[in-house]
Amino acid sequence: MEKSTIDIVGPSFFRLLHPKLTVLLTCVDEAERANIITLAWAIPTSINPPLIAVSISPSRHSHGLIEKTKEFVINIPTTEILNEMFFCGRKSGKDIDKFRETGLTPLPARKVKPPIIKECVTFLECKLFNQVPTGDHTLFIGEVLAAYVDKDAFNKTYDLEKIKLIYHMGGNQFTTLNPEIMTPET
Ligand SMILES: Cc1cc2nc3c(=O)[nH]c(=O)nc-3n(C[C@H](O)[C@H](O)[C@H](O)COP(=O)(O)O)c2cc1C
Repeated sequence: MEKSTIDIVGPSFFRLLHPKLTVLLTCVDEAERANIITLAWAIPTSINPPLIAVSISPSRHSHGLIEKTKEFVINIPTTEILNEMFFCGRKSGKDIDKFRETGLTPLPARKVKPPIIKECVTFLECKLFNQVPTGDHTLFIGEVLAAYVDKDAFNKTYDLEKIKLIYHMGGNQFTTLNPEIMTPET
């Protein structure tokens, strides 16, 4: 029997790979003014050295900042700051100060100039390792210099009873995980 499918034509194809964990990347300009960009396209790519790749369009203000200052922090938000996260994904730091507009709190990072966001639970401080053009985006690969997480949120894995991470479905739709844990048979 044939499977019944629908064809996905045009730019929505990537939604077939969502929902994806949504992160807030912080970066700075040469005067150390900070910006925040919302990203769904972020993945680990190496354990040793520890590397993370983020895919960012050259049209984003953050793209130029990372190219120039070569550092960024991946901050992981929870549903408590859903609105602020979405604002940072709809407005450009070219025109506004997103920390001021959202009320999110910058705190000094340990090893890099971009600040961490106090209201997030997880922080991965990165220095640029490599950048690769990929179609209409650029893959920025960062080496992780420091990785830390709120004490209550994590014990070998995230405690999903305590924190609600944000997953992007597409457009303005988001979801979170219900804390059912499954362990496959080996
Ligand atoms: C949930 C969500 C996920 C996003 N993911 C990405 C992404 O992975 N890469 C990207 O280039 N833009 C992504 N964007 C769009 C940018 O966040 C948006 O264009 C932002 O305003 C750019 O800010 P900037 O100009 O200050 O850098 C996403 C937006 C949202 C709302």
